[in-house]
Amino acid sequence: MIMHRRQFLQLTGGGAVAALCPSVAADIGSIKRLAIRAQSGRVHIVGPDFPATAIWGYDGQVPGTSIRLVHGQALEASVHNDLDVPTSVHWHGIRLPNAMDGVAGVTQPAIAPGDSFDYRFTPPDAGTFWYHSHINAHEQVGRGLYGPLVIEEKEPPVVDRDLVLMIDDWRLLDDASIKEDFESGHDRSHAGRIGNAPTVNGRFRDVLEVRYGERLRLRLINASNARNFALDFAPLKPDVIAIDGQPITPYRPDDAIVIAAGGRVDLIVDIFADPGSMLEVSDSFYRRPFSLIKFAVGDEPLRQSPLETAIALNPAQLPEPDLSNAKSYEVVLDGGAMGGLERAMMDGKWMNLFDIARQGYAWALNDIVGNRLDMPPLIDVPLGTHISLTIDNRTAFPHPMHLHGHHIKLLSIDDHPVPQPHWVDSPLVMPRQKLQFAFVADNPGKWLFHCHILEHHAAGMGSIVRVS
Ligand code: C2O
Ligand code: CU
Repeated sequence: MIMHRRQFLQLTGGGAVAALCPSVAADIGSIKRLAIRAQSGRVHIVGPDFPATAIWGYDGQVPGTSIRLVHGQALEASVHNDLDVPTSVHWHGIRLPNAMDGVAGVTQPAIAPGDSFDYRFTPPDAGTFWYHSHINAHEQVGRGLYGPLVIEEKEPPVVDRDLVLMIDDWRLLDDASIKEDFESGHDRSHAGRIGNAPTVNGRFRDVLEVRYGERLRLRLINASNARNFALDFAPLKPDVIAIDGQPITPYRPDDAIVIAAGGRVDLIVDIFADPGSMLEVSDSFYRRPFSLIKFAVGDEPLRQSPLETAIALNPAQLPEPDLSNAKSYEVVLDGGAMGGLERAMMDGKWMNLFDIARQGYAWALNDIVGNRLDMPPLIDVPLGTHISLTIDNRTAFPHPMHLHGHHIKLLSIDDHPVPQPHWVDSPLVMPRQKLQFAFVADNPGKWLFHCHILEHHAAGMGSIVRVS
């Protein structure tokens, strides 16, 4: 149907964004029902000059089906397994009931080939989240089993476009097929599976068309197995409005924007750059910088001066931890190549690192190798306990440490308070760094706590936090 501009304005009440809200209001309290299939597919990751890549994806795509709910809406997702291997779906960052957390072997049995599992929950927080396989994740996520999960605010900041940029990092061979060295001992004990084809929304070296004056909300989600990013948007000056799905008072970083494996950052960016120009978003986390995606600024300006509407999100709604009344825990990360770990406890016995490595493990939390999901919890507290948590990285590598079912508040780095304490679920702990957090253990269940460099988790860098 072709609609004339005047008709369109009449229908939407003069073009005000608020006019779009009645449909949103109708969704609150409703249920969004979806059927998702984990299946193999073929996608063009590196462009038309290469063959399509055989992947595993939700509905055969990468990223998988984009799930968008309105805050207050429930999700009912029936996941069917069309793969030849068992699978499960974890809803990363959602503070949901334990039975819906999707960790095969902890919160549910794996979904066998041909079977289905129904997930049902109402996300308590608006924000940017994602979903991914949680069994053999280093292989299944590495093959493409992930997708975006966006919970829209009831009153979002006004933007021209709200875009998910889901970042991944593929390790491809010359014919664009996936290199199947998922069990590489080197990856497990060093930086993880760093790839050679970083993509945004499944495309290598993509170009995003933008317009002069346009205001974008960019929801960056890092679905890479192992690669962390430090993104530079110069000459644009994005404001950070949320980290790991939780709102933060907007600020404009001087340095590159770090987004760890598993992490999310929401940005507001006003495109004020020469019409007709091509801007590079470049990464500099590791030694060799590269361009992740380009923004092509169109010739036709959208507006001449920035929108003046507020960009701040409503503050996070999480229970405030009380440090004067908190139980303190310290978690020491140790092991890996060039680390100082000589011996650790595995299966209840002290072993030297050589014997641990022979079984494929490399890392320990508080000297305990997380080689099994039924291990005793590292932290075991009654429901409602206030916790002060220090993570001390004594290894030679950065680790994004993810706690399921909760967000934790970052308070200080190496005993220096951060300018703005904020909630995270996958904080990056740099080598020799100590981060201090606090949170209330308010969600009952057995929750995984692990490094989101998926090869590190597979090599023992994980444990359980039990809240009962
Ligand atoms: Cu994003 Cu235990 O996972
Ligand atoms: Cu790690």
